[in-house]
Amino acid sequence: MFRKIAISAVSALVLMSGGAMAAGGEGHIEDVAFSFEGPFGKFDKNQLQRGLQVYTEVCSSCHGLKFVPIRTLADEGGPQLPEDQVRAYAKNFSVVDKDTGEDREAVATDHFPANTGAGAPDLSLMAKARAGFHGPYGTGMSQLFNGIGGPEYIHAILAGYSGETKEEAGETYYENHAFPGGWIKMAPPLSDDIVTYADGHPATVDAMAEDVSAFLMWTAEPKLMARKHMGFVAVLFLIGLSTLLYLTNKRLWAGVKGKKHA
Ligand code: HEC
Repeated sequence: MFRKIAISAVSALVLMSGGAMAAGGEGHIEDVAFSFEGPFGKFDKNQLQRGLQVYTEVCSSCHGLKFVPIRTLADEGGPQLPEDQVRAYAKNFSVVDKDTGEDREAVATDHFPANTGAGAPDLSLMAKARAGFHGPYGTGMSQLFNGIGGPEYIHAILAGYSGETKEEAGETYYENHAFPGGWIKMAPPLSDDIVTYADGHPATVDAMAEDVSAFLMWTAEPKLMARKHMGFVAVLFLIGLSTLLYLTNKRLWAGVKGKKHA
């Protein structure tokens, strides 16, 4: 029994570490130790707020977040902006009113606008759409401990520019070591100190890339923490139930099993 458990534990560990680099496509992607990974991982509220700032000041000029309701910025487990700040934040955007058909200032109950004008994909679910760096194959153990890899991919794209460009059919391509194929149409969006963080956190390309990737993981999976919490409660419950069943079983059969056969 013990040997069996030991063998499965060892193979689980091997799968966890071995799979890490395998499935990222052609691009080069490095692991990032995000706070929300692992069975007890949590989103870091301050990091999400910084990521929101990077998204707003840099990415939103090309990319939309059309599946994300602005009011969720106040949610527990998310960036947790105070309600009045969320209302003020919504005014950054304008949306087309469904009833009048005219442009108006966004309010907290609206979604972030869609914005794909520059050929830039919507980012709401990007962190899940590009999952795969740690899987998706295997037992799920790797994902449980290392995360799904989507935010690592976004981080790697943002930090993966070499500085080389090429023109092809009138379009400019930028060399990027994380992007499959090596050339991407998105100009490097980040440069050191392109935003100024209110909390004094250094705004290097790497730090901003991490923050905005964490934020995009939240937009893709806002209930991640609640889900982990539920999972944890379920496991505890099952352990309790198994113990009770085991004890009941012993007691029920005690009379029969205890008899010595002649
Ligand atoms: C000037 C416009 C512009 C800005 C600003 C911009 N992007 Fe992009 N982005 C694009 C375009 C265009 C593409 C499509 C590139 C392609 O398919 O070659 C893209 C693609 C992407 C992709 C998808 C890569 C893939 O696998 O398909 C991600 C992720 C991304 N951008 C993240 C960001 C983030 C995060 C920011 C802010 C830090 C940002 N972008 C800022 C234009 C922009």
